[in-house]
Amino acid sequence: MLDIRNITRAYELGGEKAGVFGISLSVAAGKLAVLAGPSGSGKTTLLQLAGLLDSPDEGEVRLEGEAVSALPERQRCDLRLRKLGFVFQAFNLVPVLDAVENVMLPLQLQGRSDSEARKLAAAALDRVGLTDRLHHLPGQLSGGQQQRVAIARALAPEPKLVLADEPTASLDHAHGGPLMALMKALCAERGLSFLVASHDPSVIATADVVFRLSDGLLTGTEVRP
Ligand SMILES: Nc1ncnc2c1ncn2[C@@H]1O[C@H](COP(=O)(O)OP(=O)(O)OP(=O)(O)O)[C@@H](O)[C@H]1O
Ligand SMILES: [Mg+2]
Repeated sequence: MLDIRNITRAYELGGEKAGVFGISLSVAAGKLAVLAGPSGSGKTTLLQLAGLLDSPDEGEVRLEGEAVSALPERQRCDLRLRKLGFVFQAFNLVPVLDAVENVMLPLQLQGRSDSEARKLAAAALDRVGLTDRLHHLPGQLSGGQQQRVAIARALAPEPKLVLADEPTASLDHAHGGPLMALMKALCAERGLSFLVASHDPSVIATADVVFRLSDGLLTGTEVRP
């Protein structure tokens, strides 16, 4: 599904070099991969490259066998809409829109009619267990519920790959575990891949594969049976 080949993205600030250097990794369809590593090790940098939000200095990103990182921004934007989903630490829901309207947004951007978008959004919220919260605003939902809305929003357009940056970091432990169990179930159910950046042990415990980063380098890969 996702192939990252020998990718480098270097930042130079005040004479100090940081970023990610010569990283290669693959995530198969239906698998949940975790990028683990301490603060500053390059997890977000790598997610932004995989999510086509940033371009590498060297190397390439492939999605379903197609080299995509060097495409013009217009085509990368189109791929983001069709094939990728995003989940963030801070949920990033639109505060004045209710749960259904938040989930409808990417569907409308895909050009679907309002009635179709509404139907698909309600189905996605149902899948994440929020059937009874369709018309709540983000501020009227708990953190765990807001993150489930964000997952429904990432999921509804039927992406191939979902990128999640510290999705449990704003949640207490009691919410993080069930959220990861939900992501894992979605992988298996839809043949969807997840790439999750996290240093949370409960997230790492759910992974099919763990990629360990340190100072911008890939220092280890653990494949779970
Ligand atoms: N736009 C930028 N300009 C300069 N340096 C940057 C930029 N973005 C990131 N960096 C540097 O690159 C390194 C990796 O940052 P990154 O955000 O990928 O780390 P991270 O593993 O996601 O950390 P955290 O766990 O704290 O989120 C850090 O040293 C950071 O300071
Ligand atoms: Mg980060």
